[in-house]
Amino acid sequence: MAEFTVTFLPDNGSVTVASGTLLAEAAREAGLRLQSPCGGQGRCGKCRLQAPTGVDSPTPVEMRILSPAQLNDGWRLACQTRVVGDALVTVPESSLVVEHRIMVEGAERELLVEPNVRKLSLRLPAPSLEDPRADLNRVLEALGDDALPPARLEPLQHLPGLLRRSDYQVTAVLADSRLVAVEAGDTTEETYGLAVDVGTTTVVAYLCHLPTGAVVAVASDLNSQAQYGGDVISRIQAATSDPEDLRGLNRAIIAVINDLVARASHETGVSPQAIYEIAIVGNTCMSHLLLGVSPAGLGTVPFVSSFRSPQTVRAASLGIDVNPEGSIYVAPNIGSFVGADTVGVILAGELDRSDNLRIAVDIGTNGEIVVAKEGELYACSTAAGPAFEGAKISCGMRASVGAIDAVRIDDEVDCHVIGDVRPRGLCGSGLVDAIAELVRVGAVAETGRMLTRGEASALPEKVRERLVENEHGMEFALARADEAYADEPLTLTARDVRETQLAKAAIYGGMELMLHQVGAEPGDVAQLLLAGAFGNYIRRESALAIGLIPSVAAERIVSIGNAAGVGARLMLCSLSERRRAQEIARSTVHVELSRREGFYDRFADAMMLRSLPFER
Ligand code: FES
Repeated sequence: MAEFTVTFLPDNGSVTVASGTLLAEAAREAGLRLQSPCGGQGRCGKCRLQAPTGVDSPTPVEMRILSPAQLNDGWRLACQTRVVGDALVTVPESSLVVEHRIMVEGAERELLVEPNVRKLSLRLPAPSLEDPRADLNRVLEALGDDALPPARLEPLQHLPGLLRRSDYQVTAVLADSRLVAVEAGDTTEETYGLAVDVGTTTVVAYLCHLPTGAVVAVASDLNSQAQYGGDVISRIQAATSDPEDLRGLNRAIIAVINDLVARASHETGVSPQAIYEIAIVGNTCMSHLLLGVSPAGLGTVPFVSSFRSPQTVRAASLGIDVNPEGSIYVAPNIGSFVGADTVGVILAGELDRSDNLRIAVDIGTNGEIVVAKEGELYACSTAAGPAFEGAKISCGMRASVGAIDAVRIDDEVDCHVIGDVRPRGLCGSGLVDAIAELVRVGAVAETGRMLTRGEASALPEKVRERLVENEHGMEFALARADEAYADEPLTLTARDVRETQLAKAAIYGGMELMLHQVGAEPGDVAQLLLAGAFGNYIRRESALAIGLIPSVAAERIVSIGNAAGVGARLMLCSLSERRRAQEIARSTVHVELSRREGFYDRFADAMMLRSLPFER
């Protein structure tokens, strides 16, 4: 059989193929990834390219999709055109599959953007006596064999008027290959999704442009479920003891998400109607409360959840104000106390593809710890409490403008404040720094006891005079009234130090036991990933100095930002990442710390504020 050379411009890649080969196959051989949302059936028109010579004559399918002027200019559909001679083919950028990078703070990943929600622009022939197909058939047939009809009545109810008003130039919205809506005109660029990380204390939402995976806005707020209790256990108790509280917890998180949608929409001008999917990660309890499912089983032995698998529900059924035909994808959980947020961390950090020993810790109200070794994944959750997120600390606040995020103590106290304003409070990284510095200079003992002014005689005078004793016990003024916002002093109390000790002991103890789980010790750790907003800003030296994390060499400790949120974005923008997340949830071994022998002994030892010896 005769063979011909096909050269693709503008990159000049060329291949030799047999006569009759489709241009789409030749392009594949040349390493080009052409778009083909219709699967090469000649329906979407996305694989068009210019091939004026060396190819066969246009097929009837091409004559329907391409205008006479386009055909005259040599435009063809790669999936329909066959090579019959040496050909010079120009490939426009718009016909290539878009590969984008999704930034993971501290790392960068290639991502094939292939969201569950796709929009296809259709120019449909108007009905005629020769073509009297029903409206819905006209749309579905243009979409290809794998397009499924709408599952609900509303899209069909809008269809007749919409087709005629828009002169049969419409955009079909497909989710999971099912037609969920039809819009007038070409709205393919207006396709958005939201990735949400529902934390026990804070909620972060990323508005993403689905065709490119780009984040166009980020909005965050406190989780207003806190009115029912600051931690997961108290919310489980509230939801279990009174059905009205379960409804209240559900309404609270839906209201937060709606507010974040409104804010992101206001900031960008993107209509909530253009948002067709929301991917949500959270811990197992948060997933239950979001869906209004009782978490009662999580509150008593043997601690079972009502579901673990991913759930997909209509946005409207949850009262979430995006396109009413949009859907909510609630990502899968690993176990009763290790949720989809941890799946997100594993996905973002690619722990499922680690050969070396890697450990990740997401420090939030619950500290989730993952250990990856030779393809095996183990995860646990430890109740750190909200201290590192600013709650339960007398002057605690989130890491936003006005928060002290770093502290140095020499002859005086030097605080770095976010936004360079007078300080209003202390965020998690500032808290760890402050305590590490107070222990270093001797104002706080390793046991956590804050010294009195009399006992701290070795301190520089300007530091010593910040130690104050009042009816609540000892306090240390990080900012005096004349230095602080609203002339209110910012003090770290002896009780704050105790809260921090409890939180850090839970995290350290958990990490140590997880290393035991794989028969390793800190020196074996190739990489320690710190996830979460707190993990991003924390000074590694301070975390090591107070024994928050095991003694891993500082250069092996990497902050990866809000990895749970990045994981949600990956699941939103890529179906293969979503499938990978499901495999992670299925295969990760959930380790129950409380059942581990020696956990409570190690917890007590880990209360000490110093770099801790690893217990073998
Ligand atoms: S791949 Fe759809 S028309 Fe060619």
